Amino acid sequence: MSSFFAAIFLLGLSLANAVNFTTVYEWDKLDFVWPSGADSSIEEIKRNFNPNDVEFQYMAVFGERLFLSLELKDGIPATLVWLPTSGKSTSPPKLAPFPSWNLHKQDNCDSIQNAKGLETDPDGRLWVVDDGSSECPGKIWIFNLLKNDTTERVHQFPDAVVSHSYTGRELTDIVLDKTTDDHLAYITDYYSEHIIVYSRKMDKSWSVITPGMMRWYSLALSPVREARQLYLGRIDSTELYSVSVSELRNEGGRAAVKLIGEWTENPYRMLLDSSANVLYAAFWYQSYLSKWNTSEPFVEQRFHEGGELDAEWPFTFALDTNGILWMTQRNNETGVDNKPRNKLLKAAVGARKNQFGTPTDLPSRG
Ligand SMILES: *[C@@H]1O[C@H](CO)[C@@H](O)[C@H](O)[C@H]1NC(C)=O
Ligand SMILES: *[C@@H]1O[C@H](CO)[C@@H](O)[C@H](O)[C@H]1NC(C)=O
Ligand SMILES: *[C@@H]1O[C@H](CO)[C@@H](O)[C@H](O)[C@H]1NC(C)=O
Repeated sequence: MSSFFAAIFLLGLSLANAVNFTTVYEWDKLDFVWPSGADSSIEEIKRNFNPNDVEFQYMAVFGERLFLSLELKDGIPATLVWLPTSGKSTSPPKLAPFPSWNLHKQDNCDSIQNAKGLETDPDGRLWVVDDGSSECPGKIWIFNLLKNDTTERVHQFPDAVVSHSYTGRELTDIVLDKTTDDHLAYITDYYSEHIIVYSRKMDKSWSVITPGMMRWYSLALSPVREARQLYLGRIDSTELYSVSVSELRNEGGRAAVKLIGEWTENPYRMLLDSSANVLYAAFWYQSYLSKWNTSEPFVEQRFHEGGELDAEWPFTFALDTNGILWMTQRNNETGVDNKPRNKLLKAAVGARKNQFGTPTDLPSRG
């Protein structure tokens, strides 16, 4: 192939993979919707609040709300917040604690201590992984978004499943597997070499060991159609693995993992669009996103370049039921005042099918 044709080929490839994101909001300075009444404990946190400390970690979407978990730091009053998916005001929205300030009391084990992975299910539940604190064990919280955000379930992991010693665990990601008669959650516990499984029907959790001394950080679940696979990402390696979910359903079992491929960098976040069989990944300290068409052998394709962002966790994302990919992007480089800028972006990526099987939302051809 001549260099002329090679150049055209490469250009075509990169344009075909590019996705056009629209900016929904842009923040110079993130802020909370602070409570109006005098609450001395929150007043003190408010005095220590620094907008630059707000770092989005995980995201989920349901209806017209986005749910975000924030990195736990001094001066961050709540690690779980929500935002509307659209707003009429010219100024971007403030972060509202979810479900209320009452469930964000420090060192009160009856409230959320350190929200991490988030997922919503089609029945309107928000599932929240809570890594706890030095005082409080790890938990899973299930809220009913269609019933006034009431707490439907709180499951505290037994010590034998997730260590009650704060240094012995780090709960991170969650994915949901709806089976014929149950909802199972698969959760990563970075410090153990286990995958945690929770059954909503039995209100019971167990851990499954994966041999090979590997620590898992991010998760994505393949569509129901095939023998379901759980994709496993490592933050200390570029390697992508998979495990058959049938092996995770046996309590106290062991599950064999399979190496699928290697990314260019270490992923911290993955997401599978089951309408198009595309796996998205974001990487530690990297300003781009990649994807892999899981119907084909592993090939990494870039699909978004954020420029020079210089952030540890530049992106987090979630997919809604209409095939819209919602994404936050943090830029630590911009601004003469050296303040991070945050954006909420969205793009149509899915290949959602209507009841007649015709694509209604055209995917970006890649
Ligand atoms: C993105 O927008 C550009 C300019 O409007 C357009 O030429 C291109 O086809 C769009 N790409 C996709 C994937 O929609
Ligand atoms: C919904 O929750 C809010 C806040 O907790 C409460 O003030 C309100 O009364 C609740 N509404 C219903 C219908 O339960
Ligand atoms: C993924 O690969 C399959 C099989 O080659 C192909 O039919 C499909 O169009 C691809 N999907 C995307 C989104 O490129």
